[in-house]
Amino acid sequence: MKKSVKILSVVLALVIVLGCFAACGGDKGETKTTLVMATNAAFPPYEYVEGGEFVGIDVEIANAIANKLGMELEIKDVDFGAIIGGVQSGKFDMGMAGMTVTEDRLKDVNFSDSYAKGVQVVIVKDGGTIASLDDVAGKKIGVQTNTTGDIYASGDFGEENVVKYENGALAVEALKSGKVDCVIIDNEPAKAYVAANEGLKILETEYVEEDYAICFAKENTELQEKVNAALKELIADGSVKNVVDKYIPSK
Ligand code: ARG
Repeated sequence: MKKSVKILSVVLALVIVLGCFAACGGDKGETKTTLVMATNAAFPPYEYVEGGEFVGIDVEIANAIANKLGMELEIKDVDFGAIIGGVQSGKFDMGMAGMTVTEDRLKDVNFSDSYAKGVQVVIVKDGGTIASLDDVAGKKIGVQTNTTGDIYASGDFGEENVVKYENGALAVEALKSGKVDCVIIDNEPAKAYVAANEGLKILETEYVEEDYAICFAKENTELQEKVNAALKELIADGSVKNVVDKYIPSK
């Protein structure tokens, strides 16, 4: 009798302990933490929407990072100019949008290691009057608001000559319809826009070279370090290069 009571209590204890394990394990599975990434998905080949899905270099790298961290990636498509503020306020965990590291932005956010390079270029109409950077002076320049294209063009050619659009595609539309004389934007989106629209070309002169990186709130160094470690691994094992080569085959 005594023996069976002992066995019963051992069994009961086991049931309770195992039950707790199962519950805790189950909980973890359900509440897999999300990694909220803010982007502006009109920037091919880094981020754009295809068949209702977010695709592109940044999207694939971010997914690979989330995978490594055992997190679920959630993408928020917002105005480019809303990314840094939203990251600072904690609305988003990170910003990844072909975003250039600049001194000014470093005052507001921290950046990961750089995972890609960008170059600001000038898109013009075929057979137009702009043949070099010098010809841009005094002309109407289309840009995406708050991008480095906007910042550099406003600084170098005067704010009064810069027309700001919500995204690069709208700036390119304005160039086609003659509302602006050129568009200053990153080289890879420029190539994508020129390929998709007839009668446009990119000037040979490169304007400014830049590094793209992921941004985080200043106080969120824990996440920054985790993401950066994952990114480092993905760069070292060639995954980042594979993604870039998939979207930019010539490279
Ligand atoms: N590299 C430029 C910048 O950081 C443009 C980035 C625009 N990105 C986007 N997803 N729309 O200002």
